[in-house]
Amino acid sequence: MRIGAPRHARTSRRWGLRSAAVWLLLSAAGWPQAHATASLDPALGKALFDRKWVAAPASTDTADGLGPLFNARSCAACHQGGGGTRFPATANGKAPDGIVVRLSGMEGQPHPVLGRQLQPLAVAGFAPEGRIFWDGSRVSFTLADPSLTAHAEVRSAPSLKTMRAIERVDEAAIVQAADPDDVNGDGISGRARMVDDGKGGQVAGRFGLKAAHATLDTQIADAFAFDMGLSSRFFPLPSGDCSEAEQQCRRGRSGASSATEGHEISTEMVALVADYLRTLKPARAPTAMPALFTTTGCAACHTPALPGSKGETVTLFSDLLLHDLGQENEGVVREADVSAAEWRTAPLVDLFADEGRRRYMHDGRAATLEEAIARHGGEAEKAAAAFRRLNRNDKDALLRFLSSL
Ligand code: HEC
Ligand code: HEC
Repeated sequence: MRIGAPRHARTSRRWGLRSAAVWLLLSAAGWPQAHATASLDPALGKALFDRKWVAAPASTDTADGLGPLFNARSCAACHQGGGGTRFPATANGKAPDGIVVRLSGMEGQPHPVLGRQLQPLAVAGFAPEGRIFWDGSRVSFTLADPSLTAHAEVRSAPSLKTMRAIERVDEAAIVQAADPDDVNGDGISGRARMVDDGKGGQVAGRFGLKAAHATLDTQIADAFAFDMGLSSRFFPLPSGDCSEAEQQCRRGRSGASSATEGHEISTEMVALVADYLRTLKPARAPTAMPALFTTTGCAACHTPALPGSKGETVTLFSDLLLHDLGQENEGVVREADVSAAEWRTAPLVDLFADEGRRRYMHDGRAATLEEAIARHGGEAEKAAAAFRRLNRNDKDALLRFLSSL
């Protein structure tokens, strides 16, 4: 295939800003030349999202840099079709892609040797840190180095079909909905997670299970770095999650290239992936929301509609705030000022059970929607109890609505 930008793309004003690197990469990946200019950015982004990365050095300068340690070779491995973790219907073996085991030392900080998460895969010449298993209801893991111990918490890949909606929510609406001291006395004390805006200020975090990122770009760069070992301006270490104690890993071959700003992934490639994620939408139109969703107390956190930054209405079924969901949801990792039991209200999307391939909550431990509700403790305890008291008909009506989301 001819290497270079397609003729029609050269005429696009935005293309002028695009580096040739992305095109080189996709040409090498067998990217077809003919597609409409209007959808060029999301299409390029999707190709990067689906791309299986390889170790450096590869024949194409911009297609490499995976690892040395990694969790999966592509975004799509964990987020199939832009969705979340797909669990095997029955299993006794390897955990599905999409499951990440976060590790920590005694104080909830990243593990001194193994870093932020367990990497069960490594490029040739390097040893994986351990293995992750799935027995049909629980995730377990083993460490390759038996002399190490680690505290662990399981996180499952969420669906990415609400990224555009999350991005559109008005900043003030998030901050104003917070009630950290429960002044209104409803037992619910959500708080906005304030994170650096990269310009010396603070903004509300929105992305990630603990709202760690304010923008899609930094969330995506985080995934490139920690899940695949690919560096960018945002996370410049080419060896990704290798810790200082993992010296051999730190000396692994870098795929950094001048074509990608001296990193493995350019700022533009991150932006293209974000463009693609913005095109993803929930697959189905939900059925009408029953009043029960509000009267049972679900809507207090799973806010059905939020104001967008341009005055539009955003449907998300989340307030994007952190809530303490009690001991049953306590992990071990302390992210900055966030406690182990605090989680961002999960946007309700892609909830259809799909014969058990969809599981629920941050670690996928809940096999059914009813089990997910039962696992709501802490601030959501009252709502979970109200659900338990409903008669079977009302429960089923609420569950039917949820599975239509
Ligand atoms: C090994 C599996 C895995 C891979 C590979 C992976 N992700 Fe994820 N993704 C996750 C998990 C787990 C989370 C939740 C992380 C957290 O907040 O702790 C997540 C969260 C996200 C979020 C935030 C979603 C939300 O609800 O706010 C985005 C966006 C995202 N991933 C995009 C990507 C992109 C883009 C790539 C490729 C560059 C990628 N992911 C690669 C597992 C994965
Ligand atoms: C106090 C706030 C709060 C209330 C009240 C609440 N939730 Fe949640 N909900 C959350 C949080 C936070 C999560 C994410 C927890 C996790 O990931 O472990 C969540 C997760 C969920 C999930 C799992 C989503 C997924 O993708 O895995 C479902 C389903 C759900 N809630 C339904 C409900 C229903 C139905 C009600 C009412 C009976 C309710 N919730 C009440 C905060 C709340």
